Amino acid sequence: VAPEQLLYTAAQVRELDRLAIASGIAGFELMRRAGQAAFDLVQQCWPDHSPIEVFCGGGNNGGDGYVLAALAAEAGLPVRVWALAAPAALGGDAALAWQWAQRAGVAVTPWRGELPAENSVVVDAMLGIGLRGEVREQYGLAIQAINTTNVPVLAIDTPSGLCSDTGRILGLAVRASQTLSFIGLKRGLFTLDALDCVGELSFADLAVPRDVYTTLAAAQLDGAVSHLNLPAMLAQWGPRPRNAHKGLAGHVLVVGGDYGMAGAALLAASAAARSGAGLVSCATRPEHIAALVAARPELMAHGVGSAHELQPLLAKASVVVVGPGLGQQAWGKELLVAALAANKPTLFDADALNLIASEPQLLFSHDGPRILTPHPGEAARLLACSTASLQADRFAAARMLAQRFAASVLLKGAGTVVATDAALYLCSGGNPGMASGGMGDVLSGVIGSLVAQGLSPQRAICLGVAVHAEAADIAAEAGERGMLASDVIDQLRGVINGYAA
Ligand code: APR
Repeated sequence: VAPEQLLYTAAQVRELDRLAIASGIAGFELMRRAGQAAFDLVQQCWPDHSPIEVFCGGGNNGGDGYVLAALAAEAGLPVRVWALAAPAALGGDAALAWQWAQRAGVAVTPWRGELPAENSVVVDAMLGIGLRGEVREQYGLAIQAINTTNVPVLAIDTPSGLCSDTGRILGLAVRASQTLSFIGLKRGLFTLDALDCVGELSFADLAVPRDVYTTLAAAQLDGAVSHLNLPAMLAQWGPRPRNAHKGLAGHVLVVGGDYGMAGAALLAASAAARSGAGLVSCATRPEHIAALVAARPELMAHGVGSAHELQPLLAKASVVVVGPGLGQQAWGKELLVAALAANKPTLFDADALNLIASEPQLLFSHDGPRILTPHPGEAARLLACSTASLQADRFAAARMLAQRFAASVLLKGAGTVVATDAALYLCSGGNPGMASGGMGDVLSGVIGSLVAQGLSPQRAICLGVAVHAEAADIAAEAGERGMLASDVIDQLRGVINGYAA
């Protein structure tokens, strides 16, 4: 796996650092390369901005900043350092970097609330992966000051104030235009608050030898996250066999659509069809049949009033998607219990998850592969915790759900996290236009469709979330506000056939 394909915890990146140093690259040389890469990026992105104002913290992240300042001064560029920690307090390589900056004639001034100059470019070298707890002291004020200006900001390694393991803002965080991350990409740069702080993300491996990564992979990769790669997953899936017939492409049964929510079932079923399922049935309230057939004649829409009427449909299905618009009344619960008893590969979404949250033992009557696709609120209900504490570490939460419910789990929200029994994945596609009703129903339909077409739950959930995000990103080209779940369905066919990726 290429280093930029894996997303690491801060502890793992420290281990990569240690291994790189053990392989013969001195710690200060790594810092020099980091500062050089950051300096190159500043010159490349903002050649017309001057001076370069470097905000340096008291750790090695600050050290990277001092190197950049030294290089800028040596190149004859106007540069100054605002120190958040007294240079006397710097240790190790950071102290060496400060000395270099001194020799190069860089003006280093303690920061006392000054705002960056109008045409400057800011380098945020205050807090990197060493951030512990909520931002303290002058750092918070400096972050505020940087965020009030509209000059470009390059964050070194991670935006200061952002937790590089969880993507959570710890009090306050720099909103960077660009972030340049070193040695290993940090998993917290891809989820939750990170999406509003990181800006454009680039990566420099600092020419650390590949075997450093393989050594780490062999030793301890618990918590490392694979970054989903849509073209690679589509290529691995390959085209349909020429002699395909609809029986080979599986049969999705969507169960849901109580009164007032017929559209949820329709969206899931349509998405399943547009993602290539051979057949799609929909079990819903009898009153909804005419509308469903009119909207999508390819669907086999069945009115069901009871579990008894659902049985024959379950028997024919290769995968069940239960939950879109299911409601939490007697009707929905009866259908959920029947779906569980069918022991088919099953995707549980929306109200199916809410019903399971209030009676978790329901799920354990099911014997078969299962997929759970909660949004943070549903996930918190399933784990009986608050949404805030769930979001505090989305990776840990997804993993806990996967273990507790013996399922493949997709935790929705910006930077969607997938946890299967063995691994964590992250989908960095998608956009804020997806914050509208029905998007989750479409996602359920896509994943169900991929299971029907023979993919394992793990592969279906990974490919499904990436296809859904890419379709949404294409749909958003016409504008994020006002984007509809139906617009995403319209893009699924192109994406899943690899025409749009
Ligand atoms: N509030 C204020 N200061 C803090 C906080 C906090 N919540 N947490 C940590 N610090 C201070 C520490 O006192 C220390 O001075 O931040 C500094 C350590 O932060 P880092 O520089 O991020 O940690 P360090 O391990 O020294 O360096 C790691 O170096 O390899 C480079 O940029 C790379 O991110 C990486 C960084």
